[in-house]
Amino acid sequence: MAGPILQSPSSFNESLRSDVANEDRISTSLDSVAPLEVSESLVPVREMKQAGTICVSLDGLLRRPIFIKEDLKEGCGGQLWPAGLLLAQYMVHEHRASLLGKTIIELGAGSGLVGLAVARGCSTNSPIFITDQECMLPLMKDNVNTNDLSSNARAIVLDWGSPLPDCIPYGSTVVLAADCVYFEPAFPLLISTLQQLLSPGSVCYFCFKRRRRADLRFMKQAKKIFDVAEIRGYMDHDNFARENLFLYSIRPRSAKNNITLLPNPC
Ligand SMILES: C[S@@+](CC[C@H](N)C(=O)[O-])C[C@H]1O[C@@H](n2cnc3c(N)ncnc32)[C@H](O)[C@@H]1O
Repeated sequence: MAGPILQSPSSFNESLRSDVANEDRISTSLDSVAPLEVSESLVPVREMKQAGTICVSLDGLLRRPIFIKEDLKEGCGGQLWPAGLLLAQYMVHEHRASLLGKTIIELGAGSGLVGLAVARGCSTNSPIFITDQECMLPLMKDNVNTNDLSSNARAIVLDWGSPLPDCIPYGSTVVLAADCVYFEPAFPLLISTLQQLLSPGSVCYFCFKRRRRADLRFMKQAKKIFDVAEIRGYMDHDNFARENLFLYSIRPRSAKNNITLLPNPC
């Protein structure tokens, strides 16, 4: 059986292009999770898949690569998505040394690539929470163990819109979310979880591939509640933008924006 293949972000755009050319669009398991409008950009990083395991080095940023097992049984999270690769690369490149003392939580982690890449490639001093729905828990745990990262990463269930698990401490949090905008009824649930997690001093790095106008509606809703800024200028930004991949920071509104102006009593 062939071993895992090594894929770096600089070549995954090529993969996406050839995916589209192959008309290898979207798995039925994704259809069963969410009624998506099928567009040519709705493609996972399918070219990279071989023997169910993908080896990700992030262009050599990870001295020891991450091995990601894929499993499509439980839906779309069981395979890698381009926004996950971008967010993993961005975090390891730009935040290698800035996460100390933070609680790090990945939402909608699927196979767990982003959290695992951060656990391996960034300096952290507490385990990263890799979270998703119950059905993804075995795959997330499997990938934590496969990469010998059980002291640096912990797979747990976090269902958007539900109360946060007790093990997540309150405080300065870095939230990671890749390709979590794809199912409109889940938008308010995701917003509610971000509201619970983003206390002052916290930030969410939010990466998604824009596929439909509804995806922008999510950002519009988020902008009403949080301080949202597009992150540009990181490595390969222009190439990613051409693939409709966008990266944002989402922060709690700064105090000045929260002030309600009372009518002047005079
Ligand atoms: C398109 S996949 C992206 C997976 C991974 N972040 C990546 O980039 O490869 C979206 C993920 O969001 C998760 N998800 C969807 N709805 C959710 C919810 N209500 N609560 C928690 N996770 C959810 C799915 O299970 C899935 O793993």
